Amino acid sequence: MLRIGMLTSGGDCQALNAAMRGVVKGICNKRKDVEIYGFKDGYKGLIYSDFNMLTSKDFSGILTQGGTILGTSRQPFKLMRVPDKDGIDKVEAMKHTYHKLHLDCLVILGGNGTHKTANLLREEGLNVVTLPKTIDNDLWGTDMTFGFQSAVDIATDTIDRIHTTATSHSRVFIIEVMGHKVGHVTLHAGIAGGADIILLPEIPYDIKAIKNVIDKRTQAGKRFTILAVAEGAISKEDAKLKKKEYKEKLANRKYPSIAYELAEQIEKETDKEVRITVPGHTQRGGTPCSYDRVFATRVGAKAAELILNEEYGYMVAMRNGETVKVPLEEVAGKLKYVDPNCGLIKEARTIGISFGDEV
Ligand code: F6P
Repeated sequence: MLRIGMLTSGGDCQALNAAMRGVVKGICNKRKDVEIYGFKDGYKGLIYSDFNMLTSKDFSGILTQGGTILGTSRQPFKLMRVPDKDGIDKVEAMKHTYHKLHLDCLVILGGNGTHKTANLLREEGLNVVTLPKTIDNDLWGTDMTFGFQSAVDIATDTIDRIHTTATSHSRVFIIEVMGHKVGHVTLHAGIAGGADIILLPEIPYDIKAIKNVIDKRTQAGKRFTILAVAEGAISKEDAKLKKKEYKEKLANRKYPSIAYELAEQIEKETDKEVRITVPGHTQRGGTPCSYDRVFATRVGAKAAELILNEEYGYMVAMRNGETVKVPLEEVAGKLKYVDPNCGLIKEARTIGISFGDEV
């Protein structure tokens, strides 16, 4: 008997179900003696032994379904090996569930935080295979994560729709794009949506550079300026602050997010009306795009291969168009940032897109 535990952890994204379907189909095509334990709401299900017994049928017809059939949650605990506030040692509790159910392995779908925990469980002797999910595309070790392309499509659609209304009213528009500490989604959606200015956490901006772009566009008779702004974008001034100081500044700022702070600054610096659009969690919602369906199916199938070969302790990644296994210890705890000198940014600059850094 092959006993597999499966869980999805962290913020959801498109194609989680497609990836799990890939894993289960890949395994059940080869083995009939399989038991699947679907842990509910991420690591919580493993800690509290809360699961559903699933069969391959449960994974049929879910290729196009958004969200996750298992439910998910942000990691509800610190990775301590001593009892938490509630008196439970969460790591021991997860190990206990694993051994009690005689699992052969855990299939864990998640982003950065999830991978830290997955690696810890590996260090504790559990067999783990992980899959790279997150719209942010910030997981180290893989060229891409599933969810990313779907999120880019949604953010791009938002920017597309803003163009007409921005032109009609001769306004400056800020579209705030998700991505946590990195700018992959903003960079791609900004280019795909024809944004005039793209602000990323990796390239601190100067408000004067933004003013110059808007003024030049107005002088050239352009009726609108569109800014694609990453939620983690940061000014040159703030980038000089120590981490702790910046955190405090964020905690005390009067604006709900960077878009509002920028809007006020731009209205002060120019005579333009500024509006803000925040697509927010729509970027994680709904059906996966076709690219993500294929991507998730491929990494799911590769995970199935690893499990059938009893190769554990890896994240399945995509590198140069091929699925590969990457040791979990290499992935855990590292973020993949946008390289400010990458070809995509150079080419964007070539066609006149501003990153708000050159005055
Ligand atoms: O990591 C995915 C992500 O959507 C980030 O882009 C965003 O900063 C965050 O999750 C939002 O988290 P929550 O769903 O907890 O509000």
